[in-house]
Amino acid sequence: MTKTILNIVGARPNFMKIAPIMAAFRERKGTVARLLHTGQHYDAAMKQSFFDQLGIPEPDIDLGVGSGSHALQTAEIMRRFEPVLDAEKPDAVLVVGDVNSTIACALVAVKKGIPVIHVEAGLRSNDRAMPEEINRVLTDQISDLLFITERSALANLQREGIAEARVHFVGNVMIDTLLSHLGHAVPPERTLAESPQPEIFKTGYGILTLHRPSNVDDTDVLRRLLQCIAEISAQLPIVFPVHPRTRARIESAGLASLVNTPRFVLTPPLSYLEMLGLMAKAKAVFTDSGGIQEETTSLGVPCITLRENTERPITVEQGTNTIVGTDPQRIHTAWNEIARSGGKAGRVPELWDGKSAQRIAAIVENWLRAKTAV
Ligand code: UD1
Repeated sequence: MTKTILNIVGARPNFMKIAPIMAAFRERKGTVARLLHTGQHYDAAMKQSFFDQLGIPEPDIDLGVGSGSHALQTAEIMRRFEPVLDAEKPDAVLVVGDVNSTIACALVAVKKGIPVIHVEAGLRSNDRAMPEEINRVLTDQISDLLFITERSALANLQREGIAEARVHFVGNVMIDTLLSHLGHAVPPERTLAESPQPEIFKTGYGILTLHRPSNVDDTDVLRRLLQCIAEISAQLPIVFPVHPRTRARIESAGLASLVNTPRFVLTPPLSYLEMLGLMAKAKAVFTDSGGIQEETTSLGVPCITLRENTERPITVEQGTNTIVGTDPQRIHTAWNEIARSGGKAGRVPELWDGKSAQRIAAIVENWLRAKTAV
């Protein structure tokens, strides 16, 4: 009998993960994949452009929750999700990543006895001040089937008492999307054509992304980071696609003058294909994102992570990532090394081969079939 899986997305980093999963389920005869968007991210630049470029079907259900405090947003998703789940009656709910939508929907489903599948399980920064870390730990505890992107995640899960039999190492679905779209990426010249002096990027550029509350909500940290990258921009012009949260903080903290220079170009959030094209040709990427640490490792582009820790250690051990925190001295040292040597060579981690979603779909289908047979 065909099984129905209700797939959940909410925020921008979920979209590139769900795209190949929806496609893989659709190729299989034994599963029907439905898509629910919580509405956590709703701006065209944060949502629709990703659906269009990645060929994600329009959601069957949109909860339209929007922004709010963590408690409000999580509670509102749960409140709106419950009646939908009652009506949909899926055989399983699949959540990805670590955003508020992930834990909210997983929690509603598990309490209704509906199996929860977590893609990108087991990553741990061991930093409970990160809202995502709480979401990861709790989602993994209540998931029935857990898919991991790197082997270190299994040890994390076992330490938390999760049975190995529930865990499957399948690789990285975000890299599935990267590999299948690299050929269609927008060339950087086109993305930068509207900037005041596009010619300064011809000899190389860096990218900056910042959105973690610990980096952007604290004015001193934000000032320090922007000042440091502005100094580096004297050598390496910087493209800075600005997250809505970060733009609001830069304005309210009066820091715009730090980045209003010809060598520091601010853009609105970019589409997936623009960002991919820019990253692929960048000399260095400065970021506090989780996903970008993995994407740069896959692309072989040097990444300087502006955080004290990473939940994705393979990007440091095998990839091109260097963790530097927010100390300007360490950021300069890491950049100088890249300027001198081109940065860490890095290699592509095991199973980051573009086929992770297919593995997931096959395992889910067999697992649901076996459950019914019991
Ligand atoms: C969320 C995720 C984070 C992820 C990030 C990627 C959680 C806890 N955090 O953080 O893990 O890395 O998405 O972007 O789920 N806003 C808009 N338009 C939108 C969405 C948000 O303007 O479409 C603004 C609102 O002012 C909102 C703020 O961005 O208050 C923050 O949005 P929110 O969804 O709360 O968290 P993110 O910082 O985006």
